[in-house]
Amino acid sequence: MAEEVQGCAAEWQARFADGEAPAAVDGGGLPWLRQLLLRRTHRRYADRPVAEPLLRLLLGAAFSASSKSDFQQVSTIRVADRSRRDRLAALIPDMPWIGTAPVFLVFCGDARRLERIGELHGKANDNGRLEGFFNAAVDAAFALQSLVLAAESAGLGCCPISVIRNHAAAVAAILELPDKVFPVAGVCLGYPAQNGHVSMRLPLAVTVHTDRYDDARLPALVDAYDQRRDARYSIPRGQQRATEIFGDAAFYGWSEDKARQAAAQAEGAGFAAWLRARGFTLD
Ligand SMILES: Cc1cc2nc3c(=O)[nH]c(=O)nc-3n(C[C@H](O)[C@H](O)[C@H](O)COP(=O)(O)O)c2cc1C
Repeated sequence: MAEEVQGCAAEWQARFADGEAPAAVDGGGLPWLRQLLLRRTHRRYADRPVAEPLLRLLLGAAFSASSKSDFQQVSTIRVADRSRRDRLAALIPDMPWIGTAPVFLVFCGDARRLERIGELHGKANDNGRLEGFFNAAVDAAFALQSLVLAAESAGLGCCPISVIRNHAAAVAAILELPDKVFPVAGVCLGYPAQNGHVSMRLPLAVTVHTDRYDDARLPALVDAYDQRRDARYSIPRGQQRATEIFGDAAFYGWSEDKARQAAAQAEGAGFAAWLRARGFTLD
């Protein structure tokens, strides 16, 4: 196919803007790879329901994700009840898409099920250690991202919502989560109301290391990335974060923004304590 011979130069440019697209490759999967390079989060949805059979198929795709040791430690809560959804949305009023998306799911790490299965077989196990927590969190993340990619391939748009973890106790109460089941992230799902835009990523020279970890070139590479990103879209002066602490920056790129975000709006303060109160020892 002529299309395949051309490779993914335009899509690569959209994602990285670094002129480093790989040479043309052949392959039947190229159209999907192109779509992956162009994927984006959507937060506004058309007033169009997601058909039940499609949603079921997407959930099947989500739960097809690989799973550490085949332990299958993810559970998803589909929030169908309006009042529970409203209570969740009310926790985070600055993200109205949590309440308005046609579908809202919460992906949970589920360290409980393996303990219950052990009990059923008369072979108790303690799955509340760091290993159990971590495995369940990773399984949940894989399933969530599988759902996102499956949904996007079907023309839907998604937005993961990890900010719900900042309200873990309230979320657990609303969704009646038992001990050792914890929210990893929600996900909004629906048909996109807008095109949205591709969010540029750091170059592979920063994120891919060969044989040994080496970030010696980080400052120069991040600076160049900031410049490329700013050339496509400059963060308006009025959107600089935490100016009361850090002031106005003459040049406000991605790395300045993320440095401010991580320093001034650190998240997850109560999460470890909440997990410990819910049966995790994390040792
Ligand atoms: C684990 C995870 C949690 C996220 N949580 C939120 C969230 O709470 N609210 C939100 O609006 N977007 C959330 N996002 C979406 C990110 O902001 C988005 O993926 C990022 O800005 C990159 O944009 P892109 O997905 O369009 O490339 C989350 C994404 C991930 C992977």
